[in-house]
Amino acid sequence: MAFDENSTIEELEDLREKFTSALNSCRDDKCVEAVRIKYLSKKGELSKKFSLLGKLPPEEKPRLGQALNKMKNLFQESVKQKAKEIEIQKVQASKIDITLPGDRDFLGKKHPLLQVLDDIKRIFSEMGFAIEEGPEVESDYYNFEALNIPEDHPARDMHDTFYLPEGYLLRTHTSPVQIRVMERQKPPIRMIAPGRCFRKDTPDASHSPFFYQVEGLVVDHDISFSDLKSVIATFARKMFGRHVNIRFRPSFFPFTEPSAEYDFTCMICGGKGCRTCKGTGWLEISGAGMVDPEVFKSVGYDPEEYTGYAFGMGVERLAMLKYQIDDIRLFYENDLPFLEQF
Ligand code: DAH
Repeated sequence: MAFDENSTIEELEDLREKFTSALNSCRDDKCVEAVRIKYLSKKGELSKKFSLLGKLPPEEKPRLGQALNKMKNLFQESVKQKAKEIEIQKVQASKIDITLPGDRDFLGKKHPLLQVLDDIKRIFSEMGFAIEEGPEVESDYYNFEALNIPEDHPARDMHDTFYLPEGYLLRTHTSPVQIRVMERQKPPIRMIAPGRCFRKDTPDASHSPFFYQVEGLVVDHDISFSDLKSVIATFARKMFGRHVNIRFRPSFFPFTEPSAEYDFTCMICGGKGCRTCKGTGWLEISGAGMVDPEVFKSVGYDPEEYTGYAFGMGVERLAMLKYQIDDIRLFYENDLPFLEQF
């Protein structure tokens, strides 16, 4: 069969017109898909024209081949374009204003103090400590009496207490949890008690009327002060890295004898001395000591049989050290730009 170039070009022209008008009349994707199948699928109209190529003498193949390929590209592009238009029309019809800026999901996260509390709990759990809790509203007995702080004891002056009616108060420290645990459990005891405490302090850079403490208590046969020191040292290194040192200074607490206060290397200056550590290179963390026999007596333990140590821990102190923050109030102001840094 001879190849009549003119009539073939005309046929192609014809095909293009039919295709274009079919596509233009489409109002939904189904119609676009039908047009695509009719013209572009393997058995479609355009493919049929491709099969003509086989019947042509070699020298005439390239021209028709090129024309067909051009048309195929054109058809494919047109189908894509039309599908896009229909998509946009759909969005517009659904009355979504796509020019509005999008909503960004804000992912909340834990408050830095709670992150530090989590670290503390994890580190002590790894060392075999149980995690205990006690009430924030305490009785005078647990907060003071049982801890060997009788009424009129001068140590009560250090605890500016929020008193509630009927002998209750907001606990001024987490030490009362020691008593509650010893009352219900026999040694060996190895526990920490994290929690919130309250004191009538006027807020300033280092005071807040509420704050977190972690109490620690270990009771067993033959527990010594050196056990206390090694646990505190291990904690310090797990929390801040191996360059941190600890030191104990003699002190007084009614519920421990001997008593100490303990410090960590000031991480803000690396121990060289700075404004935060007042040039000493050390930052005070809290108090500690060997459990006073009077405390054992109040929970019915025999002080001849058991010994133990107890320690406190100021969570804000540790968080300030960790994040190099010099004002405790920042933790309580709910200032998002501040909190988002952690
Ligand atoms: N409860 C004390 C306070 O709030 C801290 C403390 C000191 C806890 C000595 C202890 C301890 O367990 O042995 O200041």
